[in-house]
Formats: sequence, C-alpha cells, structure tokens
Amino acid sequence: NWTMVNIADESIEAVRERVGGKRAICALSGGVDSAVAAALVQRAIGDQLTCVFVDHGLLRKGEPEQVEKDFVAATGVNLHVVDAQDRFLAALDGVSDPEEKRKIIGREFIRVFEEAAREIVGEDAAEPVEFLVQGTLYPDVVESGGGTGAANIKSHHNVGGLPEDLQFQLVEPLRTLFKDEVRALGEQLGLPSEIVWRQPFPGPGLGIRIIGAVTRDRLDILREADAIAREELTRAGLDRDIWQFPVVLLADVRSVGVQGDSRTYGHPIVLRPVTSEDAMTADWAKLPYDLLQKISTRITNEVREVNRVAVDITSKPPGTIEWE
Ligand code: XMP
Repeated sequence: NWTMVNIADESIEAVRERVGGKRAICALSGGVDSAVAAALVQRAIGDQLTCVFVDHGLLRKGEPEQVEKDFVAATGVNLHVVDAQDRFLAALDGVSDPEEKRKIIGREFIRVFEEAAREIVGEDAAEPVEFLVQGTLYPDVVESGGGTGAANIKSHHNVGGLPEDLQFQLVEPLRTLFKDEVRALGEQLGLPSEIVWRQPFPGPGLGIRIIGAVTRDRLDILREADAIAREELTRAGLDRDIWQFPVVLLADVRSVGVQGDSRTYGHPIVLRPVTSEDAMTADWAKLPYDLLQKISTRITNEVREVNRVAVDITSKPPGTIEWE
C-alpha cells in the first residue's frame, strides 16, 4: 500500500526533525493508538525514546505480555514496566461506584506515570526528556476542538489523558489519521496483529466490568471468562465484525445452579457483544446460537465460580456499551 508507506516515511522524518537529539517518553496502554505512535517514534529516534507501561492489573488475559514481550520484540523499544497491581487494588478496595472507580483508576494512573517519568527524566541530566508522545487520532482532535459535549465525554473516558502541568512538548504523529489508517500503519510498522486489530477497550479496563467491588479473585474469574469468549469469537472468524465484546461479571449477584450432583451458588457472567460505527450508538450483535452455546458451555465448565451465562440484548441507547 503506497499511501501508507508514504505516510510512514513522512511521519518518521517529521518526528526525527522535530525531536532532533532530544529524548522522549510515551505511555503504552496496550491499545492500538499508543502502540502505533510509539512504534513510529521509535523508528524515528530509536533509543532516545523510552516507553512506560503501567500494569494496573485490570487488563485482560495475555495483554500485559503482548506489551512486554510481543511489542518489544517487534519494535526493539526501550520499555519501563511498572507493576502497580497492588497499588491499584488497594486504592480500589471496597469501591463499587462506577464513577468513583474511574476517578481512582485515572488518578493512580497519572501518579504512577509521573513517578516513572521523573525517574526516567532524572536518569541523565545532560540529556533531559523534552517530549511526550501521545497516540491522539484525528477524531480525538476534532472532538476536543469545540468544547462540545462529545469532547467532555471523551476526556472523561480517556484514562490515559495526562495532566497539562507535565512539562513536556507533545509529539502526536497520528493527529491526521483515522483508526483504519492507524491500523494499516501499525501493520506497515510490523506490529503484531493482536495489537493492531485489538477492539477498543476502556482505560479502566476490567475494573468497570466487575459489577461490585474489584478484588483479585474477581479479576481472575472475569479474566478467564473473557479469554474464553474472545477465543471462541476469534475461532468463529467474527472478531473483526464485532465492534466490542465486553464480558461482565455480576460479582454481587448469586444464583442457584446444579452441577453434577451438587447445588451451586455462583455468579452470572453477561456477554455484551455489540456492533457500532463510532461507539456513540450501538446494536447488540446477533451472534450465532452455536457460538453462544459454545461460549456458555465452556465458561460454566471451566470457570468454577460461574454457573450462569446471560446475553445482553440491549442497544445503545438506551443501554451503554459498558455496564458501568
Ligand atoms: P459506553 O459504555 O459509554 O462506551 O457506551 C462508549 C465507548 O467508550 C468506552 N469507554 C471508556 N473508554 N475510559 C475509556 O478509555 C472509560 O472510562 C470508558 N468508559 C467507556 C467503551 O468501551 C466504548 O468503546
């Protein structure tokens, strides 16, 4: 694809000119935008870039490894990983309110990132870090332009959004691109397809897919159920047709079931597959019955604490995509 090759080459050249011999940092979220932005800047300035990955423990199965191993293998980037799982769990202890969870996760994320940034900046006083790389896309630029309602929703939603008093100049190499172009660019840069084709995933992660307080055990249950749902969706060849597929744990709800000879009293899992163009509106996705059956059977067989699987058939509006 000639266009993408040109975009890649031109963007790399532009970043190189702008940053010169200075250093840059970038926060990786596990999502496609920050990954492509980082890969591009890495091509331009190599080891002058350091990436920071805050592992808040709210990612899905395999996702931290995708960043820590696959992304590094594909790009050779300098990666600074902060294992902040305990810190996030402690901060979230006993909190059930969705907005409260979002606030806590956003606040902790920024604190951890700032600490990491200070360490990296302090490493070499002779060559201070001057630039912060962000994966801002064209629709983000447009949305935050007019101070519209959409902009408010968006900023509220972006946990990766960093405070303005961080003293860096911004480098935003994806500012003119749409999502599909970013994906093409990611492939062009040799990123793993699991990262390039990842469905949108909220910054607060599994934290807002546990209805009730977030605990380590509950995260483990949800991670297993979610991994099964995703695996079967991919196996059915439908993962690129579905906009998002939240899997939700109703951690405060129990229902009676029977397994083998014994009565169970477990938690329900809700499957929330949706189709959408832009997440502003969405339809519930009519997944094939045999696929739903497969997912249900596997989750109830393989995840001990779950004895019931439900499918959410609400469109947006009136339901939102996420349950919280
Ligand atoms: P809702 O649930 O409002 O979600 O229909 C619309 C889109 O936004 C994502 N989402 C979030 N993304 N931080 C994010 O970065 C958040 O707090 C958040 N809440 C929802 C959701 O996954 C969907 O793509």
